[in-house]
Formats: sequence, structure tokens, C-alpha cells
Amino acid sequence: MNPFHSLLIAGLLCTTAASAQRSETLLKTHWQFHRGEALGAEAAEYNSKAWQAVSIPHDWAITGPFSRNNYLQRVAVTQNGETEASEKTGRTGGLPYAGVGWYRTTFAADTAGRTTLLFDGAMSEAQVFVNGRKAAFWPYGYNSFFVDITPYLNPNGQANVLAVRLENRPQSARWYPGAGLYRNVRLIHTNRIHVPVWGTQVLTPHVAADYASVELRLSVEGGEGMPLRIATTIFDDNNHIVLTRENTQTTMHGQPFVQHFTIEHPRLWSPETPQQYRAVSRIYTADGQLQDTYTTRFGIRSLEFVPDKGFFLNGQQRKFQGVCNHHDLGPLGAAVNRSALIHQLRLLKDMGCDAIRTSHNMPAPELVELCDSLGFMMMIEPFDEWDVAKCENGYHRFFADWAEKDIVNMVRHYRNNPSVVLWSIGNEVPTQCSPNGYAVARRLQDICHREDPTRKVTCGIDQWDCVLTNGFAAMIDIPGYNYRAHRYQEGYEGLPQGYVLGSETASTVSSRGVYKFPVVKADGKMHPDKQSSSYDLEACWWSNIPDWDFANADDQPWTLGQFVWTGFDYLGEPTPYDTNAWPAHSSYFGIIDLASLPKDRYYLYRSVWNKQASTLHVLPHWTWPGREGQTTPVFVYTNYPEAELFVNGKSQGHLRKADAPKSAPRRTLPEDYKDVEKRYRLMWNDVVYEPGELRVVAYNDRGEQVAEKVVRTAGKPHHLELVRADNEALRANAEDVAYYTVRVVDKDGNLCPADNRLVRFKVSGNARFKATTNGDPTCLDAFQEPQMHLFSGMCTVIVQTTNKAGAFTLEAAAAGLQPARATGKSQ
Ligand code: GAL
Repeated sequence: MNPFHSLLIAGLLCTTAASAQRSETLLKTHWQFHRGEALGAEAAEYNSKAWQAVSIPHDWAITGPFSRNNYLQRVAVTQNGETEASEKTGRTGGLPYAGVGWYRTTFAADTAGRTTLLFDGAMSEAQVFVNGRKAAFWPYGYNSFFVDITPYLNPNGQANVLAVRLENRPQSARWYPGAGLYRNVRLIHTNRIHVPVWGTQVLTPHVAADYASVELRLSVEGGEGMPLRIATTIFDDNNHIVLTRENTQTTMHGQPFVQHFTIEHPRLWSPETPQQYRAVSRIYTADGQLQDTYTTRFGIRSLEFVPDKGFFLNGQQRKFQGVCNHHDLGPLGAAVNRSALIHQLRLLKDMGCDAIRTSHNMPAPELVELCDSLGFMMMIEPFDEWDVAKCENGYHRFFADWAEKDIVNMVRHYRNNPSVVLWSIGNEVPTQCSPNGYAVARRLQDICHREDPTRKVTCGIDQWDCVLTNGFAAMIDIPGYNYRAHRYQEGYEGLPQGYVLGSETASTVSSRGVYKFPVVKADGKMHPDKQSSSYDLEACWWSNIPDWDFANADDQPWTLGQFVWTGFDYLGEPTPYDTNAWPAHSSYFGIIDLASLPKDRYYLYRSVWNKQASTLHVLPHWTWPGREGQTTPVFVYTNYPEAELFVNGKSQGHLRKADAPKSAPRRTLPEDYKDVEKRYRLMWNDVVYEPGELRVVAYNDRGEQVAEKVVRTAGKPHHLELVRADNEALRANAEDVAYYTVRVVDKDGNLCPADNRLVRFKVSGNARFKATTNGDPTCLDAFQEPQMHLFSGMCTVIVQTTNKAGAFTLEAAAAGLQPARATGKSQ
């Protein structure tokens, strides 16, 4: 039997705090894992000594190895207009995610009071056994669920055995889902009288600059019909007491205990001012005994969707500058990691992104908490399919019995988080066109409204021919357009809501640092090397280049903004190389690649979205041996209206961004967007390549030179560079990770953009090598081997702290180059 866990008190978590009456323990270490079936492993006495020791979050499949045959799918993707089945190689990342996995651990629990296990997410079809008895089943791998395990505990403080059986079916996903206990497991102990998991709800019925009215509803289990006294103190972000309130009420029939507060001059939450409050509620019985202390984090902000005028946050009109993301963290897989999420969010923030759609499933609580504190609005979405299948073994198998339970958990979990501004009920569900589509959608929207009357509901819709006429789109609070940017007008004019949302946009494809000639706008373009051009003119037949979506946001007040597909590249769905195109196995859609390295497109979005910083970005690189004398267009992404380009000192002319139309144009055809990129990019299409220097000089509206950028032809590869890509303080918790960017450069520090040699890593001191990747969707190098081929001269290496604080050294070496070294420390 394992030793007991050393109980880690989790400290202040999203909604709960440790206190004398309540404790929350993250069950992270001392787990044993077995890949495959293990008959009888639920039994307390089962001997799992030989199993692999793991800590969670854990993703059993991310270690690969990659294979074309890992859950190959032979399907027709009807959403993409396919009518005949074909081999979809790499659709789920070429990783061995399917099969059974078992986890076992032991824990100590006090048998007085109540003990609850809360799983943030278990992939998938989780069966939970406590001391050999089945305590829970939860099929959907993305959702959080909890179970009261008090009846299953051993008496007198004896050790308890927790066993979890998970199973991922083949053909159950359209992308890499991850596998295992990939999110945290929490052991919560309370008194018999207690606030249950997600047991509070905060409403803000009045929000204005002078005051906000706050209503706190507390469910108290075990206290039904008893007079209870609740003393709540509200703290601001600086830990200052804002208000206190004490009431005595007797609640019955499952009604919550309600307290009202008036907060003068509230600090309103927004992406720019992510200020929150904390309500700490102490619950006493009539005899004065403290029964529970429960902390509810919340924010105060108002949301309005106004016909013809759009979206208003705290009374200010704005457009969503959002991205869709899948949940995987590239080389870290699906295993949630807070510091990796912070790194992602900081990159998005700098791009000017202010919103995230958790496509197409429930997020990890860590992500929601970080969106609250770093300032991102969220659209949380539960499903990619309802009752009609997209994947043979997808969620449709569970929909009838589980959809309501899944939505209830999602909404209750996140309805107090200020970042969450919209619920989505699904993505491109085939049900949208079935005769009962309206009724299914109505039911799901009603569940959201019942559980949370404060937020509107949307749905990512793609079948506009049927939803415009079958009542589906007219019923959804907010019609969500997936692509079809040229059909927004039709929806605005033909639907009752008075606004439309770009729930999923762009699906432009590119590979970092790869440029294709001649430079042409194309849909579904495939190149022999299975890369897509970074001139950002290649999209899918159903999608468009980013410029269309910018124009819709800029020109039409009734558009609510957009969520770009996608912020980050993800494992699986390597469109346009998805059919018999192995080794392509990760996406090309990301604005940022799988190695968390920005592609050129990052700067295009930044130049439009980030109004605080200036952007002046030049592409392509200027090292083209063999292209001498050939046309090599140069694009500049900048927030400045005008620039002049020089090649080796020779002017290539001034260019100015095309003006916006004087009045809002009606756009109903793809042709209406012809040349729209001239409004958002400066493009010198006739530049002839000669080695040397590209220089771009930017001008402001007064014609003053305001910025300059130079790109030089690289000489011979000379040395490696190793630069920390994030700057978060590292905690010695065996979890925090640091990202380092590796570059091969010439003797003057110019990137050698065609160098793809192998680099080896070594970490010494108080950290360990965690993972590496280069962002090449066709590269099969294992993420967990301390070596990686460069891609376009770069890659990323991720280092993880240990439990011991102190310094560490990371070294990178490659044949023929001077090595690089970086040092860091954890606290
Ligand atoms: C959408 C879908 C996404 C992704 C994307 C690729 O239709 O909602 O999940 O598949 O297409 O363009």
C-alpha cells in the first residue's frame, strides 16, 4: 500500500478557501498508472506496485510515439463538404490516445462530516471507485464533476484507496483529445452543514459608476429548515474590506440563503481592468458554532447586446477581438499547466486579443481563473456534437442522458467568473438542420438561462442555408457565424436579433517562416512540402483571410466582433493536409505555432488589435540564395498608415493603406472583399530579390517618420541563441515551466531561416528538461526527448522546476555551431 499523501492544502483556489471547517487537497502525487485494462484494479487490495508512478495532471498519450496508424480515421468530413470517405491521417495528432488507462492512489480522510472528490476533467468515460465500491461514472472527458464519497470511506482514519478507470474510444474525436487524469483531482472535506461544490451564485442586478448592487445566493447543504447566521465580508483585490453583512435566515425547499450588498464606486471588471472581489462567508448554526467558511470570487461588470449597435461592456461599445483555442498545450499535451497557460495568455494579450472561446469543450478551471485575473472575456462552449454524430464514437452516444447534467456543471462551475461573458451551446452541430434541431437547441439554451439568467447564449453555426429558414438561428440569443463573413449582412437583415457574432473566423493557414512563390491568394492550397505559406493569403474554401473579418468589425456597427480559428496551433486536424498526407499531424490554423512562437500573422492581428503599442513587422526573411533576380514580394504589418521600403538603399516606393469606405458597405458576396487586404497590409508585390538589406520606414498621418525596421540577409550559421520567452517568476513546485526560444544565427545575430539542424539540450541544477518542439506540423521528433530539429531556424525548449528552489542551467548544442547556455532560478 502506498504511503498516505502528505496533504497539500491548496490555499486560495478559484472558489474555495481552506479553513478549520473546510479543507481542499489537490491529489497530485503518489499516483500509480497502468496503460491498458487491469481486471479487478478497482479492488482495494489489488496490487498495483508494479504500475508506473505518475503525478497528475497526466496525459498518457503525449509521449507517443507518433504513428500514421494511431487511430487513423476513414471518414467523409461532411462539415467540409466531403461526400466520400477517405483516410484522414493525423486527424487526432497521430498519438495513441485511445484505449483504457487505470489510476490508483490512497488518501486519508476524516469520517466526521462530508468528503467530496472533485475531478476538474478526466479523459474519458471515468469510473471512480473508492475502497473497491463504484462511486461515480462521468462520460464526458472535458467536464468537471464531483461525488460525495462519504459513504465509501473507511472508518477510523484508515487509508482509503481511490481507483479510476478511463477509456477513450477510437473514432471519438476530431482533434487530439488527450488521455488520462489530465486535470486536477481535489479532495474536499467539510462539516455536515456546508456549502456544496459550486454552491454560490453572485448576481449584479445594478451596475453603474456610482454603485453596484450585488446579490449573493448561498446553498447550504445539511442546513435545511434550520436558522443559520451567515456573516459575509467582501474584500477587494488589495485585500481591503469593502463591506460586511450578517443575516439570519431559515432556508427551505432547496432555496438559497440570500444576501444583498451595495458597493459604492465599484471597481469594474474589464479586460483592461481585471479587478475582482472576494466574498468570504462564515456560516453559523443557532448555537453559534461556525460550520463552514466559503469564499466566492466575483467581478462587477455589465454586459449589453444592443440591436444595431453591438456589444457594450460597462457601457462602452467594443468588438470581441477573440481567438478560439483547443485545450492542448502543444508538446505538454492536454495535461493542464498553469504557467504554460500564463505564457499563452501573455502572448495573446500583447497581440491585443481580449477574448477566448474554449472550442469546443469546457476549459480547465485554471484557464478561467487566469482569464479573470489577466483580463480576457470568455465564451465557454460545451459540445461539438449533440444527438447527431460527427464522430462514430463521439458525444452523441451520451447526449440524451448527459447533456443537461453537463451543461448544469459547466454553468454552475463558471457562472461567478467575470471573464465569462457568453455561453455557447455547441459548435457546428449537425442537429442544426434536423427537424428537431430547433427543439434541441431551445432546450439547451433554456437550461443555460435557468442556471444563469445573466448571460446570453450563442452557438457556432455553419449551415446558414437551413438555419435561416428553420427557426434555429432566429431563436438563439446571439446568432454565431462560423465563417461565411459575406453572409453576415443577410443574417443581420433577416434575423430578429439585430446583431451577429463571428463565433469562428478566418481559418487562415500558415507555417512559421515558410514562404511560397508566386504569392497568390488561394483556398485549400497544398504544397509538396506539406507547409502553408506565411504570406497569410491561404485559407480554406469555407473560410477567409483575416482582412475580411477586420473589415466586418470596422465597417458594421452591428457586428459583435470575432473569435479567430485559432490562437494557437493544436495537435490534430492538419488541414489542408488531412487526407493521406502523413506526417502532417498538427494544425496550420494557429496565429501562434505549436512551439508558442508567433507566426507573421500574429503581427497582422497585433497591428489592428493592439491600440496601445506600435507594430512594424516585415516579411518574408531576406535570405534567399538562388532567388537572386526573382520577384519576392515584401509585406509590412503595421499600425502606421504609410511606409517606404528600401532594398539595399534603393526605394521601392511609398505605400499607404487603402482608406475605409465612407459609408458602411453591404457585403453579400465573396467578391465584395476583393483587395480588402490593401486596407490592412502594405504589400510591395514587385520587389526583386537581391541579398543585403530590407529597410522599412514608417510614417504617421502627419507624414513624420516614426519607426524603422531592418531585415538582413544572414551569413553562415555561426552560433545558437537561447532566450527565455516568458518572464514569469518560477516556483519550485515541480510544475511551473519556463519557455526558451532557440535560434540559429550568423556571427552578427541574423536568424538563419532555412537551418533545420538537430539541437540537443541539457538541463542541470534545480530544474529538469520537460519538452521541446519546433512548430513544424510535419515533424515527428518526440516532444519528450531532449533534442529537436530546428524549423525555420528556431524551436522551443521547455524546462520545469523541481521541488527544490534554486538555480539551473540549460544548454543547447548543435553540430557545427557554438553552443548556447541560459541560467534561471526558481523560488
Ligand atoms: C470549423 C470547426 C473547427 C475546425 C475549423 C477548421 O468548421 O468548427 O472545429 O474544424 O472548422 O477550419
